[in-house]
Amino acid sequence: MSLEGLDHVALAVNDLDGALRVFRDLLGFEYLGRETVEDMKVETAFLEVGSFHLELVRPSAEDSPVTGFLKKRGEGLHHIALKTTDIEGMLEKLRSAGVKVIDPAPRTGARGKRIAFLHPSSCHGMLVELCEEAG
Ligand code: CO
Repeated sequence: MSLEGLDHVALAVNDLDGALRVFRDLLGFEYLGRETVEDMKVETAFLEVGSFHLELVRPSAEDSPVTGFLKKRGEGLHHIALKTTDIEGMLEKLRSAGVKVIDPAPRTGARGKRIAFLHPSSCHGMLVELCEEAG
């Protein structure tokens, strides 16, 4: 196992510009940019303060998984992302221990990182993203 720390915390929002107004304009986070992640059907914006990174996530299509999340639970904490240097090794170890994974193999997420989600039902209610810097 090779967990290195927290990469980011993600907030699901209905209104990305409204959320940027609060976190960037009023609270003073530094804005790092936004992008659409096509295969997840989301638009994301990343913000930074100190060593803390905040991801704002908004659905970019009606059938985005985040659309269902917002309908069911409203805006709020969506996932935490943990940094690793061995995403395959971690996935293999977790799967063989019976942890339910959403992504059996890493895929490309925001900022070009290699990511995989673990199912909240195996993580005591928390949606956990593993992420590794693309080599
Ligand atoms: Co994320």
